[in-house]
Amino acid sequence: MRQAGRYLPEYRALRKTAPSFIDFCLDPQKASEATLQPVRRFDLDAAIVFADILLIPHAMDRGVHFVAGEGPKLRPLEDDEPLLALEKAWSVHKLDSVGETLQRVKAQLPDHVALIGFAGAPWTVATYMIEGGGSKDKWQARQMAWRDPEGFEALLDILVKATVDYLHMQAEAGAEVLKLFESWAEGLPEPFFERFVIAPARAIVAGLRARGVSRPVIGFARGCGLLAVRYAMETGIDAVALDQAQSGVWFNANLPEGLVVQGNLDPAVLRVGGTVLEREVRRIRKSFAGRPHIFNLGHGITPDTPIGHVESLIRAVRASA
Ligand code: CP3
Repeated sequence: MRQAGRYLPEYRALRKTAPSFIDFCLDPQKASEATLQPVRRFDLDAAIVFADILLIPHAMDRGVHFVAGEGPKLRPLEDDEPLLALEKAWSVHKLDSVGETLQRVKAQLPDHVALIGFAGAPWTVATYMIEGGGSKDKWQARQMAWRDPEGFEALLDILVKATVDYLHMQAEAGAEVLKLFESWAEGLPEPFFERFVIAPARAIVAGLRARGVSRPVIGFARGCGLLAVRYAMETGIDAVALDQAQSGVWFNANLPEGLVVQGNLDPAVLRVGGTVLEREVRRIRKSFAGRPHIFNLGHGITPDTPIGHVESLIRAVRASA
């Protein structure tokens, strides 16, 4: 997840060699190295390609840049801005270097380690494009969606199409699993969630299947609470990722039998480590008893997490299997 590399000294050293974060993401040599770093260090079952959910807006010429200490900044979309310009600017070839990164990683990754490609989900990406960066409550984006749902859907539609192109390209380049990050699914009323989160995810999965992509898709609608059941059942995703606030026991009882889950350790527990970490691993594993479960955090690893805690976590997960 985002910021994943920052707890590793080798990541921080590599990061310093890139002029900007976007250049880093689009440099196959550096991005493949960043993808492989955690796999070299730890006994992991999967690697996620080093990239960012904001590469699609970057390719749409939204002026994406990262300001140290402040996070991502973009040129905000105006209310009356012609959407056609976004469609015209988009070409998956602008992100071909991500495909090259995947090919390089695939060539070096041991066979038993799965390679995950990803993209941001349309609502989350749209919030960045409208707000011009990260924002606490997505106030402008939520208003835009309620005020002009058809216009907002037209924007999401453009993002759906670009995301299908992008994930299709990643699958062709060697991604064995595709993950959709809907990081800002928190606090949305059900009809809003249905129209602007579920519908676009369903369109992306259908679009991929129509283009012959059979790789499994993991959907992660962070903060969506109980709506993750609808998200899992109505989008066609193969696995649902859960954040740390979502009850494993409840979801295990309420998700269709056999549906894969991913998650849901609190990143703060990993930061703390020790016996509480071991206890949480056992609790989470037990909560998903009888169901295929991909152990993961409920959100990104924080830069201050000690490397030793990651090692302990992996040992604890292996011991619980
Ligand atoms: O983490 C990994 O190495 C895997 C690749 C990955 C990144 N971003 C690299 C990254 C993934 C899967 C993402 C997803 C992403 N990016 C999300 C969805 C997941 C989530 O966290 O909810 C979001 C919302 C973004 C947008 C984004 N990118 C933010 C908010 C930030 C933090 C900016 C800041 O300065 O705090 C980033 C930057 C980013 N993306 C970093 C990494 C490794 C850190 C960049 C650095 O080294 O400074």
